[in-house]
Amino acid sequence: DKVCVLSSFRHARIPFHKVNISIIMFDFRENILLTQLQIGNLPRLTRKLDTIQDQTTDSRQCMACSYISVSLPGPVRRHKDRAQNNATTNISPRTQANLRLRLVDMSNSEQALDSTNEAVNKASNEATNPSFAPQHILVTGGAGFIGANFVHWVARNHPQAHMTVLDALTYAGKRENLDGVPAANLTFVHGNICDAELVESLFSGLNQRSAAAVPPIDAIVHFAAESHNDNSILDASPFLNTNVTGTYVLLEAARRHDIRFHDISTDEVYGDLALDEQRKFTELSPYKPSSPYSASKAASDHLVRAWHRTHGLKTTISNCSNNYGPYQHVEKFIPRQITNILAGIRPKLYGQGLAVRDWISVEDHCSAIWTILTRGRIGETYLVGANGEYNNIDVLRMILKLMGRDANDFDHVNDRPGGDKRYAIDATKLQTELGWVPKYTDFKEGLAATIDWYRAHESWWMPDKAGTEEKYRKQGH
Ligand code: NAD
Ligand code: DAU
Repeated sequence: DKVCVLSSFRHARIPFHKVNISIIMFDFRENILLTQLQIGNLPRLTRKLDTIQDQTTDSRQCMACSYISVSLPGPVRRHKDRAQNNATTNISPRTQANLRLRLVDMSNSEQALDSTNEAVNKASNEATNPSFAPQHILVTGGAGFIGANFVHWVARNHPQAHMTVLDALTYAGKRENLDGVPAANLTFVHGNICDAELVESLFSGLNQRSAAAVPPIDAIVHFAAESHNDNSILDASPFLNTNVTGTYVLLEAARRHDIRFHDISTDEVYGDLALDEQRKFTELSPYKPSSPYSASKAASDHLVRAWHRTHGLKTTISNCSNNYGPYQHVEKFIPRQITNILAGIRPKLYGQGLAVRDWISVEDHCSAIWTILTRGRIGETYLVGANGEYNNIDVLRMILKLMGRDANDFDHVNDRPGGDKRYAIDATKLQTELGWVPKYTDFKEGLAATIDWYRAHESWWMPDKAGTEEKYRKQGH
C-alpha cells in the first residue's frame, strides 16, 4: 500500500493531453477513500504532484496513496494491472521520463515525510489525532440498537480491539443483541452509567476480566441514552438522569484517567428545517432542540464541549441522522411499521406523514464512528449522514410495497406534539477531512434487508410488541 501506480488504458486513440487525470488516494486497509483530486491533463499532473502532497493535511495519508487513475473521455477500458506497460502507449518519451521522475520523487519524499511525519503533526496541529488505535473501548449502551451494531462491527473489522459494554439493560437493551461477538473481544457489565462508583471501578481494573489479557480502557464510546422522543414527552426524568447526569459521570471518570471520549449525539440538537428549504444542518448550525429528548442530548453535548475546553479532555462528538437496521426497538418508526404488518396490525402514520428524515444505514454510522474515534480531530464535531432524505409517508409506502401490501393500507394517527419537520445532514466535513464515505446508499435495498431481518427474528421483537402498542394507544398514536 505504499506503491504509487499509474493507471492506464488500452486502445486509446486520443491525444494524451486530452486525458483527464485525477488522483485518488484510497486506504485499502481501512477501505476508505482518503482524497480525490481532479488534476486535469498530464502536463498539469506533473506540475501538481508536489502541491498535492502539500495539500494533504495528514502526510501519513500519502503513504497509503495507491494509484493514480487516468480517466478518458468516451468508452475506454481502464486496466489497473496493465498500468506499467500500457501507460507508455501514447506518451512521448520526454513526458514518460518526466512522469517517472516525478513518481520517484513522490516516493522518495514519502520516505522523507515518514521520518518527519510525527514532528510535523505535533507541531502543525496538536489537536490532530491521526493514528489513535484503541486497544480497549468502554462502549456504553452497547446492548441497544446502534451500540450493539457498533460492537459487532468493531469485532468484525478491528478484532484487535477489546470492548467492555456497560449497559443498564433498560426496556431498549438486550444482552442477546451481543450474541455472536467473540468472547475474546467482549466483557459485559450490567450497570448504570449514573453509578459513579461502578464506572470508576472499570478504570481501576477491578472489573476487568484479566488484567494480563486485557489492556486498560483507553477510549469511551458513549451511546447509552434514553433515545425515544415519544417517551420523553410522557416522562422526561429518565432522559435527564441518563442523558445529562450519566454523561457527566462518564466525563468525570474520563477526566480522572485521561481517556479519549467519543460522544454519540444526534442531529436533533439542531431543531428542525423547513420542508420547503434546501438548507441542511452543518457543524455550524445553532443548537435549537425541540423535544425533552433532544434538549437532554443538547445538554449532554454541551457538557462534552465544556470538558474539552475547560479540562482539556480529548473529546469528539458525532451528530448523526436517523438510523435503520437490525436490533432497533419496535417503538421506532421503521421497525414499528414492519412488525405491525407482520403481526397483523395496520401501520400508523403520524399526521399527514410529510415530516422528512435523513435515513442512514446503521452500518455506515458505525464506520463513521470508528473513523472519527481513530482519526477525528480532538475537540471537533462531525455530522454523519448519507443523503437519505424521505418523507414518512413515502417510507411507509415503500415498506408496504416491499411487503406485498396495498400502499394505502395504513391508519393516520395523532401527530407528535412539537414534532420536528425535517432533518438533513451535510456531511462534507467528515467526507473531506477524514475521507469517510457511506457504503449502503440504496435505501430501498436497505429497507428490504431490514424487513428480512425482522421477518427472521420474530422471537426477538415479539415480546416487546404488545406493550409498545398499548403505550402508543394511550398516547393516541
Ligand atoms: P437505544 O434506545 O436502542 O439503546 C440505548 C441503550 O442504552 C440500551 O441498551 C439501554 O439499555 C442503554 N441505557 C439506557 N440508559 C442507560 C443507563 N442509565 N446506563 C447504562 N445503559 C443505559 O438507542 P439507540 O437508538 O441505539 O441510540 C444510541 C445513541 O445514539 C443514543 O445516544 C442516541 O441519542 C444516539 N442516536 C440515535 C439515532 C437513531 O436513529 N436511533 C440517531 C442519532 C443518534
Ligand atoms: O435524527 C436522529 C433521531 O432519530 C435520534 O436522535 C432518535 O434517537 C431516534 O429515535 C430518531 O428520532 P425520530 O423522532 O426522528 O424517530 P422516530 O422513529 O421516533 O420517528 C420518525 C418519524 O416517524 C417522526 O416524524 C415520527 C414518525 N412516526 C413515528 C412512529 C413511531 C410515525 O409516523 N409513526 C410511528 O408509528
